Amino acid sequence: TGYFTFDPGFTSTASCESAITYIDGDEGILLHRGYAIQDLAENCDYLEVCHLLLRGELPNPQQKEDFERTITYHTMVHEQLSRFYSGFRRDAHPMAVMCGVTGALSAFYHDSTDILDPRQRMIAAHRLIAKMPTMAAMAYKYSVGQPFMYPRNDLSYAENFLYMTFGTPCEAWKVDPVLARAMDKIFILHADHEQNASTSTVRLAGSSHANPFACIASGIAALWGPAHGGANEAVLLMLEEIGSVERIPEFIKRAKDKNDPFRLMGFGHRVYKNYDPRAKIMRQTCYEVLDVMGIKDEPHLAIAMELEKIALEDPYFVEKKLYPNVDFYSGIILKAMGFPTSMFTVLFALARTVGWISQWQEMIEDPQQKIGRPRQLYTGNPGRAFVPLNKRG
Ligand code: CMC
Repeated sequence: TGYFTFDPGFTSTASCESAITYIDGDEGILLHRGYAIQDLAENCDYLEVCHLLLRGELPNPQQKEDFERTITYHTMVHEQLSRFYSGFRRDAHPMAVMCGVTGALSAFYHDSTDILDPRQRMIAAHRLIAKMPTMAAMAYKYSVGQPFMYPRNDLSYAENFLYMTFGTPCEAWKVDPVLARAMDKIFILHADHEQNASTSTVRLAGSSHANPFACIASGIAALWGPAHGGANEAVLLMLEEIGSVERIPEFIKRAKDKNDPFRLMGFGHRVYKNYDPRAKIMRQTCYEVLDVMGIKDEPHLAIAMELEKIALEDPYFVEKKLYPNVDFYSGIILKAMGFPTSMFTVLFALARTVGWISQWQEMIEDPQQKIGRPRQLYTGNPGRAFVPLNKRG
């Protein structure tokens, strides 16, 4: 009994108040704590953006140094957690591994699971931001059979992640600064995006006062789907399937066909009905990376550019306001950097962790916070007489 608003997919329901991220989907605007994403991506490093999201302000030089020291203090994982990886098959999808190991953190760090203690909450946030690159790189190393690399705290956040992923104990490792900066930018562009499916999942899980590590694991699970974070992997698989510029019209036709489940991956967004501002920055970064890597005539890029051009002119996409989203170009960059497609969504999860944990913290500190408990419109049988087993036909 009772009257509820029926809103499948939460297209018109605000689930919370939040002061972290603002999106104007019609204008293509994205602000974190009031700052435009373009300014942050151009002028900040990822840890400054983490400080902004988590603490509400960009750090001053002293705060920046302190924050970096705090995060790097937590970069290693418990040795027992390293052994946890060996329970997985080598060919496990790294997102499956990340769901498992992130959830398992609550079994290793008992001193940061009391969500009612603000100090423990902050330590949990620092641990998650610090350990995600380590755990993500370990998931990759495990899949290729190489030894895990311990974090190096003398490197920047992005450099250290690239080192743990691509470095080996046998040779001195050096990263091109343009690639490190591109990695950092990709992290910034994925840091938060208000109440998307994975963030809402984290909030809903957290609303029961579950521990933060379990909540982030639930966010990783929600992110994995191809309609959400899994789209970056799906874009590259789609570009591979299309194979050549000549075949684009065939796939555009399929995307418009109501009887065909195929969609143009990396196109469309629930909130943006304009060009996703992150996609523009991503496209520019893509050119920079390919240039540094000396990759000319990248076949996927050629297909992506032509696809974008055709789709942006096609009345179907124009009328439905379907524009490229953040995932459209990121896969091409990540592939050029040497990441296998299965790692793409892991990188998204790594970068989004700060958004998830900042939103989780905001929710826990909100005096209006209640357990999330959606209602439903029941469409089943209104009630009927029980039939004993021997009388059921
Ligand atoms: N290709 C073809 N048609 C599409 C596409 C697409 N990529 N996206 C939406 N449409 C059509 C859809 O068929 C529907 O048509 P109609 O009104 O005639 O039924 C209309 O556009 C509205 O789509 P919707 O599914 O009702 O919109 P939504 O807000 O529920 O879905 C979306 C948003 C992102 C899930 C969807 O656009 C999509 O599946 N895109 C491809 C996957 C993708 O790139 N996801 C990444 C999103 S951005 C990063 C992130 O959130 O993680």
